[in-house]
Amino acid sequence: MKNKTAVITGATSGIGAAFACEFARQGYDLVITGRRKEKIEAMAERLRQEYGADVDVIMAELSEMEGVQNVIDNIKGRQIEILVNNAGFGANSLYQISDLAVMEQLAKVNVLAPMELIHAVLPGMLEYGKGTVINISSESVYMIVPKNAVYSGAKAFLKSFTEGLYLDLMGTGVRVMAVCPGLTHTDFHEKIGMDKSRQTDRGQIKWMAPEKVVEIALKDLERGKVICIPGSHTKMLTHLLNLIPRKSYYQFMYNFSRKNFGKKAV
Ligand SMILES: NC(=O)c1ccc[n+]([C@@H]2O[C@H](COP(=O)([O-])OP(=O)(O)OC[C@H]3O[C@@H](n4cnc5c(N)ncnc54)[C@H](OP(=O)(O)O)[C@@H]3O)[C@@H](O)[C@H]2O)c1
Repeated sequence: MKNKTAVITGATSGIGAAFACEFARQGYDLVITGRRKEKIEAMAERLRQEYGADVDVIMAELSEMEGVQNVIDNIKGRQIEILVNNAGFGANSLYQISDLAVMEQLAKVNVLAPMELIHAVLPGMLEYGKGTVINISSESVYMIVPKNAVYSGAKAFLKSFTEGLYLDLMGTGVRVMAVCPGLTHTDFHEKIGMDKSRQTDRGQIKWMAPEKVVEIALKDLERGKVICIPGSHTKMLTHLLNLIPRKSYYQFMYNFSRKNFGKKAV
């Protein structure tokens, strides 16, 4: 019998790499995507050596339809048991002065690529009566901050889309879950210009290891959760922030951003 296969987008580093390690450990064959060739090839080699996994690497720019189609073409005919839509990147600029092309890429990676990939794997999962789709959203859905408008919006789409899909797929045997991580130690923040030295716990600002995010996500999946917010501090913070009247919230976030990230933040 052929091994079960997990597809993970953006497995070069961070949360995607942690999912890849965990599913390889569980005996899955893997299809992983990324753009930094050397790094993802090294990751694939590690998964083969450490877990004996069969790993296919697809180099794919997921903000472009050709990149998404490349992934779809490569997995055609394979029984995909798990799809993790993890690839994504952040922004760190006021929308009014942002490069619109970059904002469009951000939205495409988080919105269109998951839509296309899920649509491609669902027929196989439904025929088999089994499958899992995990979409990596973000705590920024609940905690909207300046310089993040498109990112928060795109992640909110992914969360709502997941909940809608859950309803559409009820009773089919296919599970869907959105994960909304808080600050996580990955390459994400460095890519948007945050120095590693600033990626530390401060007061209510707490960071998590990607492996922990994955551990909690998979536990929540087994519990049948549709939305996973990893970590009690993230859960508590998102809950408390949502109790504040919206106008007070906006003022609080404006002041908080100015204090913590400098005047240029807003
Ligand atoms: N880190 C956090 O605090 C945090 C919090 C909430 C949610 N998230 C979400 O978690 C997911 C994983 O991010 P991470 O934190 O693990 O960051 P990461 O270490 O930078 O990993 C991001 C992955 O996505 C891939 N990727 C980015 N843009 C892409 C594009 N346009 N086309 C194709 N692949 C692309 C990257 O590929 P290459 O590196 O090879 O280019 C990399 O493999 C993202 O969706 C992110 O929004 C992160």
